[in-house]
Amino acid sequence: MNNNKEIMKAVRHIGVLTSGGDAPGMNATIRAVVRTAHFHGLKVSGVYDGYEGLVQGDIQQLGIRDVSNIVQRGGTILRSARSATFRTPEGRARAKETLDGQSIDSLIVIGGDGTFTGAAVFNKEYGIPVIGITGTIDNDLAGTDTTIGFDTATNTAMEAVDRIRDTASSHHRLFFVEVMGRTSGAIALHCGIAAGAEFVMVPEREQGIDELITALEQASTSKSSVIVIVAEGDEQGGAYEVARKVKERYDHFDTRVSVLGHVQRGGNPSVADRVLASRSGVAAVEGLIAGRSTEMVGEVCGRIVFTPFSEALSTPKQLDKELFRILGILSI
Ligand code: F6P
Repeated sequence: MNNNKEIMKAVRHIGVLTSGGDAPGMNATIRAVVRTAHFHGLKVSGVYDGYEGLVQGDIQQLGIRDVSNIVQRGGTILRSARSATFRTPEGRARAKETLDGQSIDSLIVIGGDGTFTGAAVFNKEYGIPVIGITGTIDNDLAGTDTTIGFDTATNTAMEAVDRIRDTASSHHRLFFVEVMGRTSGAIALHCGIAAGAEFVMVPEREQGIDELITALEQASTSKSSVIVIVAEGDEQGGAYEVARKVKERYDHFDTRVSVLGHVQRGGNPSVADRVLASRSGVAAVEGLIAGRSTEMVGEVCGRIVFTPFSEALSTPKQLDKELFRILGILSI
């Protein structure tokens, strides 16, 4: 169970933090961690501003009622950050002093790959048991079907594209809509299918402007509007750049660009994200109690699973090729 072969010590006091980009459902996760810890008679403290709070000692013990009325709220009550100090050995040494000073003996970290990388290094240096919970809109972690926040963010993007479709078809326009995902096209692909987009461009797939123009030419013969979803990290350079490159060679449509940006990260989490967050929080605390460490909680085919950080971090998450085929069929 304990994949670090550490001498298993009883968990008494858990520190919980959120790190990296915030994601809807982080608060529901914090709530689940805090309440599960209390349910099992453990102390739990919230660490503010991600790993930076560990370095600076910005920590507060959380009671059962401190997490009331947050299951429905976006963002994170613990705030989040990407700490440069924690990436240094000195920063981590200060973080360890903070934990010792507060008698915190284990950690639950909520975030994405950067969060788990930091946790793995910290565990290797100081042996503190740590469990990771996914909290990222990008859905780019192996070991889970979806990450907490992805469903909400994709719904937000889809609703925005639905609105854009109204105006696009009223004016016979071509819209390039940029969605989040610096290295992941998951939001773009799922939103594209859900909103009936004509074309989707993602960082994981080489798609030239030629391929796009061919699709636009086909669409131009019968469609009153065309929507192309572009993930921000697409190799062609984002929605403005794609629009510029297309315009240079194919000027049939009146064209507009819309960048959805951080609106996708905010808002109340969906049912799916709240349930996943709740299940993950309970599993993380009970996993720590059972002696688990350096593993990520995920959900695969409806079941909660634990995946070692090393595996989750080294296995690239693939986009489902079948979804591209489906998009191609449905966008004719
Ligand atoms: O990792 C989540 C994410 O929203 C990415 O999709 C995006 O590229 C990045 O964070 C944006 O980060 P920031 O809020 O620091 O600009």
